[in-house]
Amino acid sequence: METCQTLEAIHYKENKLFILDQLQLPKKLEYEEITCVEEGWQAIKQMKVRGAPCIAIVGCLALAVELNKHHPTSKHELMSLIVRQLDYLTTARPTAVNMKGAAESLKTLINQLQDNQDITADDIRQRVISKAELMLISDVKCNQSLGHHGAQHILQHCQQGKICVMTHCNTGSLATAGYGTALGVIRALHEAGKLDHVLCTETRPYNQGARLTAFELVHDKIPASLITDSMAAFAMYKKGVSAVIVGADRVVANGDTANKIGTYQLAISAKHHGIPFYVACPSTTCDFSLLTGDAIVIEERPHNELTYINGVQIAADGIGVWNPAFDVTPAELITGGIITEFGVFKASELQHNLTAVTDRSE
Ligand code: MRU
Repeated sequence: METCQTLEAIHYKENKLFILDQLQLPKKLEYEEITCVEEGWQAIKQMKVRGAPCIAIVGCLALAVELNKHHPTSKHELMSLIVRQLDYLTTARPTAVNMKGAAESLKTLINQLQDNQDITADDIRQRVISKAELMLISDVKCNQSLGHHGAQHILQHCQQGKICVMTHCNTGSLATAGYGTALGVIRALHEAGKLDHVLCTETRPYNQGARLTAFELVHDKIPASLITDSMAAFAMYKKGVSAVIVGADRVVANGDTANKIGTYQLAISAKHHGIPFYVACPSTTCDFSLLTGDAIVIEERPHNELTYINGVQIAADGIGVWNPAFDVTPAELITGGIITEFGVFKASELQHNLTAVTDRSE
């Protein structure tokens, strides 16, 4: 297995975009160039890149590389191309809200620019490219801040001594521009010398935990063990778990949270064992236009992602399959809180608190 200094899911240099093909991990570290929106959409759909923040950044940078080659004849032509491509990109993975949020923010930018007579179509093109490029930097900063807030909160509120964290799916450098969300909190605890051990779930059916999180933890020399999803409750009983920390694909107004399938049952088990359950996500993962988790569209993935592992058939031909990629954890089970770049909030008070902080920082 090749090694490298820092794991980069997204490599962007001199207007060229490369993504680490996560379907090849952990066997191969192979980068693939994305030269247009269609290739970006395909990479997201096929889960060569995945994780809510990473999906949004790759989508926007795919648009940036396409716009780099495009010389618009008019503002109108450019605007309709950008809107069309952004709308298309949001269709690849419907549950993760970050791409939709990023698309709305780019649309707001071009709408603000279009009426200014001094601004040319080429200026708009450049501004969109720059805004997409900035996401790479701002995401890492956001994750570091979120990691710091989460680690502080856990150290203040969880059991004394070194911390054992259980996590699910992959929320690390491979799911973001770097550092990670739930894995960012784990990294911050490790950097502070306060982490004893991580228990990472395999995350069936697509094994993001075994394929990706285990890879990141080994790569970064963070002490960790892999468990199957079905071992989680027993591990909570036996292994002295201090906190469960997961990521999110969409957090709605009442604090209900969509995340990788299996999150809901972890939250139920954590409550039973009196273990604080945290969701860690950037504010861009919050969607307060939806009131409760029931309104979240849950992506369903192809049957063969469940009946095959790495091309090997593991289930009988003809069996029916239900394969939702995400579930919704009710706010009341998120007992530790929701960790954001602005601080840690009670799930039920997230909308109120986040709106107050973001209003103040504008
Ligand atoms: O289907 P995936 O691998 O894209 O699902 C990823 C998750 O559920 C993550 O927990 C979430 O996107 C947060 S990633 C920082």
